[in-house]
Amino acid sequence: MKILVTGGTGYIGSHTVVELQQKGFDVLIADDLSNSFPETVDNIADITGIKPLFEKVDLSDRTATRILFEKYSDIVAVIHFAASKAVGESVKKPLLYYRNNLNSLINVLEMMEKKNIPNIVFSSSCTVYGQPDVLPVSETAPLKKAFSPYGNTKKICEDIIDDTVAASDIQAIKLRYFNPIGAHDSALIGEYPQGVPNNLIPYITQTAAGIRQCVSIYGDDYNTPDGTGVRDYIHVVDLAKAHVIAVERMLGGKCKSPSEVFNLGTGRGYSVLEIIKSFEKVNNIKVNYKIVARREGDIEKVWADTSFANKELGWKAERDLDNMMLTSWQWELKRKK
Ligand code: UFG
Repeated sequence: MKILVTGGTGYIGSHTVVELQQKGFDVLIADDLSNSFPETVDNIADITGIKPLFEKVDLSDRTATRILFEKYSDIVAVIHFAASKAVGESVKKPLLYYRNNLNSLINVLEMMEKKNIPNIVFSSSCTVYGQPDVLPVSETAPLKKAFSPYGNTKKICEDIIDDTVAASDIQAIKLRYFNPIGAHDSALIGEYPQGVPNNLIPYITQTAAGIRQCVSIYGDDYNTPDGTGVRDYIHVVDLAKAHVIAVERMLGGKCKSPSEVFNLGTGRGYSVLEIIKSFEKVNNIKVNYKIVARREGDIEKVWADTSFANKELGWKAERDLDNMMLTSWQWELKRKK
């Protein structure tokens, strides 16, 4: 059974392709390589022994999307990762983000309707909750105004999916990720941040590797145990496995409603300082850091109520923080080489 993975050479996409192949699925990757590299396809093949099909396609281009779906008539489900994802860039270039993220989803859904492909897994984010009133945050929490155009595209995409599901035979599973980090044990795939990293873990690994001088901790006056921001960090391989379960759930006709939504986190929050200390301890390396002012748009703290995903999907994050720190560093070292 062929699964189309859009954005399949990207960070979460590539890990998901590996897990799908290891479960026996036939995978077709569609990616425009705007934020990833073609070598990832070979690296996936090195891990699994199977080279996934690959098409370089910009899915925000309606004609190109149509040609892709015309070429492959045996797609049974789509996992839609393809999107721009830099929060800061989205503030500076909102139209780019709305055009890319909304058009690609609309084009994919349109072709799914046309070709009678009834299953989509969508890559959403905990950003839709903003700063939640209650922690841990569950799927029933109210959605808040997005802090960035990127975050808003995730909210709007969820609405587009729900409206499409209501009017068609398509069923959807929307997965709201907390903070994905770590890399595959092989260190053959991982995240490639372009330029100066925005996210905490690549900043830490690049500082430890001597590429950056010092990690800036954005604020130590938050209402958290040590004053630094708290997030629910989840290993990308755990996240990838949840996508396979979601696909199997849809193909097995086990969905309880035509549009389901699940939080994907560990259920536990760690502060920025805890992350740096853990990285230093696990990898036996010092990381320079300094406290600076809060970063605009950051929330104070968030972690997931994962009970719904645990119960309904039979999925639970298995990797601990040590493993996240270890694999992140192994990946940085491999890339340095
Ligand atoms: N942080 C630092 N220094 C850095 C980078 C980050 O102190 O150099 C802190 C942040 O202030 C925050 C934590 O580390 O407290 C995590 O920051 P990240 O940038 O790694 O992640 P965010 O939680 O800000 O962003 C993530 C995803 C986004 C998504 C957002 C939703 O990367 O895609 O969650 O809240 F939109």
